[in-house]
Amino acid sequence: MLLENRRWSPPQLEEARRQALAGWPTGAGVDLQDAYAFHHSLPPERVAHRKLQAGAAAGRIFLQPRAGVALLAEHIELLSTLETRGCADFLPTTIDSYTRQNRYSEADRGIEESKAAGRSLLNGLPAVNYGVGNCRRIVEAAGVPVQVRHGTPDARLLAEIALAAGFTDFEGGGISYNIPYAKDVPLEHSLRCWQYVDRLCGLYAEQGIVINREMFGPLTGTLVPPAISHAVGIIEALLAAEQGVRSIALGYGQGGNLVQDVAALRTLSDLGRSYLDRSGYQDVQLTTVFHQWMGGFPQDESRAQGVIAWGAATAALGGVNKVIVKTPHEALGIPTAEANVVGLLCTRQVIMMLAEQSLPETPGLQAEEAIIRQEVREIFDRVLELGEGDLAAGVVRSFAAGVLDVPFAPSRCAKGSILPARDRDGAIRLLNFGDLPLSREIREFHRQKIEERGRAEKREPGFRMVIDDIYAISKGMLVGKRK
Ligand code: 5AD
Repeated sequence: MLLENRRWSPPQLEEARRQALAGWPTGAGVDLQDAYAFHHSLPPERVAHRKLQAGAAAGRIFLQPRAGVALLAEHIELLSTLETRGCADFLPTTIDSYTRQNRYSEADRGIEESKAAGRSLLNGLPAVNYGVGNCRRIVEAAGVPVQVRHGTPDARLLAEIALAAGFTDFEGGGISYNIPYAKDVPLEHSLRCWQYVDRLCGLYAEQGIVINREMFGPLTGTLVPPAISHAVGIIEALLAAEQGVRSIALGYGQGGNLVQDVAALRTLSDLGRSYLDRSGYQDVQLTTVFHQWMGGFPQDESRAQGVIAWGAATAALGGVNKVIVKTPHEALGIPTAEANVVGLLCTRQVIMMLAEQSLPETPGLQAEEAIIRQEVREIFDRVLELGEGDLAAGVVRSFAAGVLDVPFAPSRCAKGSILPARDRDGAIRLLNFGDLPLSREIREFHRQKIEERGRAEKREPGFRMVIDDIYAISKGMLVGKRK
């Protein structure tokens, strides 16, 4: 069947569900009636979309860590520590890499080996292997909403099990969980798999159970210009809304330049809103999520704390509904519970101290916002045009043509011909435009910004500059300097 941005019919979903649920024995444990009853029994403070709605009305910024280990009891204990000592407003369940690649037999082995070793040998919780009943224990033990975070191009079975278990929030999308995460998965396939996930959320919504769907904003986390991640997030939001998703969170990964980041956060929520409204999805709830720096971190924990604090300040000044918090162990690997608590408390401290402060509207800020808006519009319009009006078809053709592109992505579906670099102030600009459909005016703006930096550093902008930027923060600065 042709890939189209059109809501799946009930028989189409039914047939697809039958196949997906047969993917691993635990699929047989999915019982929709039981799932609906469990969701209806959850109090509002443990339902993601309700908590987000209340927080947005009250102007609160919620904090959420990342966490997931191989063994269930340990995972539940870890989350309890993050909730009680870290005061996390939302809890995560980060899924391991085998599960992300649908390699459930290997995940099984990982569980057994972890039991034998007495510690987690997986980089997350293999939720599919545990199945509905076990996963529900995670949700039951938590006093706040729990979100599944992963990086799975085909998350059909994972979504079935997570939703049936009672998770009220599910991250990912057909672009953002493929292009940065996989090499060989066709976009058409991941888009279809995520139509399934979104339609499944739509099915729950028909029972009055609203699942929040978060789009993974940071993409490769490596110098992604805001307009690129905004365009991808907005497209994923529209695809999700078409399948019946009623609550969407759009994400953005911190770039490091305050003005650009604040402009990005402000434009993300109002561009997202206006694209949804214009497409007839006025009743879809929209919130935003800020990811503290997703690139390389300093090894030194005190320096890492500095990066975390700067992210916290940016989130507070930019205004956002939720922050995904880093830890001082970022450069070292999976953080301990303790390190995660440190990241949460540090972030909370800074955000609380900035609660009464806001950035003045400056011409610089307004100009930055205007640039992002124009870039998103130029990209989005061309995607729709290539799809001859169909957004899903447009996405596939646009990635093939380089009209949509993501820097440093491993996927063969992305052309990978754009190259970002920081300007003199550390804002992320484009050095190579690849085949992005950007106007002459926009290109000239980027060129001037990067040339200005080249003059200041007395060097020709080029690949060396990009490499210096990639490592800059881990070496203690924002703008990469020549050795
Ligand atoms: N527990 C905690 N953090 C994790 N991350 C990935 N897996 C886990 C896990 N199981 C974090 C990485 C990085 C981000 C992409 O996710 O440390 O910060």
